[in-house]
Amino acid sequence: MKKSIIDITENRLAKTYAKFPIEVADGYGSTVLSADGKEYIDLGGGCGVNILGMKNKMWLDAVEAQLRRTAFCSNLFYNAPAALLAEQLCVRTKMQRVFFSNSGAEANETAIKAARKYASEKKGAEFTDIITLKMSFHGRTVTALSATGQPDMQCGFAPLTAGFYYIDDDEEQLRQALSDRKVAAIMIELIRGEGGVLPASRGFIRAAAQAAKKDDILLIVDEVQTGVGRCGALFGYEKYDIIPDIITTAKGLGGGLPIGATIFGEKTCDILQKGQHGSTFGSNPLSCAAASAVLKQIDDELLNEVNKKSEYIFSRLQGQNGIKSISGMGLMIGVETEKNADEVLDCCIKNGVVAIKAKHKIRLLPALNIPWEQLKQAIDILIYACK
Ligand SMILES: Cc1ncc(COP(=O)(O)O)c(C=O)c1O
Repeated sequence: MKKSIIDITENRLAKTYAKFPIEVADGYGSTVLSADGKEYIDLGGGCGVNILGMKNKMWLDAVEAQLRRTAFCSNLFYNAPAALLAEQLCVRTKMQRVFFSNSGAEANETAIKAARKYASEKKGAEFTDIITLKMSFHGRTVTALSATGQPDMQCGFAPLTAGFYYIDDDEEQLRQALSDRKVAAIMIELIRGEGGVLPASRGFIRAAAQAAKKDDILLIVDEVQTGVGRCGALFGYEKYDIIPDIITTAKGLGGGLPIGATIFGEKTCDILQKGQHGSTFGSNPLSCAAASAVLKQIDDELLNEVNKKSEYIFSRLQGQNGIKSISGMGLMIGVETEKNADEVLDCCIKNGVVAIKAKHKIRLLPALNIPWEQLKQAIDILIYACK
């Protein structure tokens, strides 16, 4: 008998992921089709990657056209999709330069290297510390993991990269850390997604931005999950009214193809010089063409829709039986349930909806353009599953 894909996966892929019992075979928009022919409304959006759903028309046209020209060319040559994407990102963020990589962790590694180099040149070689938040998540590579404020994820991987210091969302702890340590940067995940969809408080973010500006400490925002329209603005920092020195992003940027971006402002744009950083696949024309097609569609009209859909979800879920709390911003929403989250997700799957978890919560990261009909239907099913 032919072995099932589930059997082969369980035996042959590293056991790093707990999986839902669904083999994804196809999909369109916010509909996921399983190999056994079932349809699901997707409230997880491929962990936030399928930001415009699956097979978005403009995205697919751009990817197909680019694939017929050049999928790849090395960074030793100029390529138009990378240049035009960088231009679009800089114009829309009012930043200066971009380094492209392939993932969120790499985008953060790039930011960390740049921040340490900036601090060593401007303030002295001893200014290496980077402050991050407890319960933050910055990726799984050794240095991104070291930046991550979750000791359970770091367990067993010592020695980690030195120089990361974790604080709570607390202005006093921030003040203390800044006075005790030789700080190069404050690196913030504005809404800690993996940590349980925990938005940072406005007071803390304002204090961090002010302190950073005053002491020439770099402010890095990790917008791997919150970026590309997810929070109802192109980037989440706009909602906090701050100007970062470095923005990192990934996930939704490629709309389904791998790409990470580290976006540098005035202070940091010339820090990384020739030969000091690189990525073979970074800036590849295919991912860049895909990302440009995504960005062009993240306009005011779509962002207004994101905010309306967010209000709708909050107002439908608030006060429902079985729901303890709701957190988040835009279409990045955490739902704390009375029942165990796995039980709720199982019930959702049986009723044709998929979503994901963040710690003990249900996490919703639907496509920004999820049709209203599907959104309403899926939220009704989620409410039913929570009861
Ligand atoms: C805020 C944040 N930073 C970094 C990462 C790591 O991104 P990647 O898995 O693409 O390396 C993630 C992934 O979930 C994330 O949510």
